[in-house]
Amino acid sequence: MNPVIDLLFSHRSIRRFTEQPIADALLQEILRAGQAAATSSFLQGATIIRVRKPESRSKIAAWSGNQVHVEKAAEFLVFCADLKRPGNACREYGKPFAGDYTEHFIIATVDVALMAQNVVVAAESAGLGICYIGGIRNKPAELAELLALPAGVYPVFGLCLGYPDQNPEVKPRLPLEVILKEEIYNEDGDAQRVAEYDQRVREYYATRTGGGHGICWSEQVASLLSEKSRPHMRQFLADQGFTMK
Ligand SMILES: Cc1cc2nc3c(=O)[nH]c(=O)nc-3n(C[C@H](O)[C@H](O)[C@H](O)COP(=O)(O)O)c2cc1C
Repeated sequence: MNPVIDLLFSHRSIRRFTEQPIADALLQEILRAGQAAATSSFLQGATIIRVRKPESRSKIAAWSGNQVHVEKAAEFLVFCADLKRPGNACREYGKPFAGDYTEHFIIATVDVALMAQNVVVAAESAGLGICYIGGIRNKPAELAELLALPAGVYPVFGLCLGYPDQNPEVKPRLPLEVILKEEIYNEDGDAQRVAEYDQRVREYYATRTGGGHGICWSEQVASLLSEKSRPHMRQFLADQGFTMK
């Protein structure tokens, strides 16, 4: 192992932060590290909105399901998929804009995720803690209005950044054998491996700092996938110009 891999293995989401601000120079460096990520076709289809106003933070925290860390974190960033900026180049070069295909949506969304994860790793390497906030998609239209997002731009997730005021345990992941397949997709032996993993997750939740519910991974994802999940997203994306041709 090396220090970078050690750092990756030490990741855990942080949901309680100290009051300590992040120095501007450090924040800039972390964000530039985000920009260094690979980007599909050099599109650079990601835009970050830094939200500092307490009123805006409070609204976003409430919309996200009363996630107080959105208000308390030193920094809160909204990562947006952005086809507007590359679309501007079409106008400049007299080309019709045809960036409303599902493929473009995938490209821009992937760009956002890669950039954000670079930001996360850079931040964690500097001793900061992070928490992604998918909860912002509870109220995407309200958020888009608050942030003045134009057509061609949609908020993918938020990110809390700050100095940790807690030290949670690392959450166990599925065994590599379950997620890595040789040559073809097959599920041989996975049921047993997942059952063993479920037991580990149950123990993790039962004993983790701050207590827990003691449910397992399968139970958790079964609940998630058996319920409607933000059904408003389809219309919201269409309204923002992501018509998914
Ligand atoms: C895109 C994305 C959205 C997430 N949204 C939230 C969120 O809204 N609130 C939250 O507390 N955690 C959120 N998380 C954190 C996950 O719950 C967390 O990463 C997962 O449980 C694994 O735990 P770990 O990050 O501590 O390893 C999100 C993570 C990702 C990648």
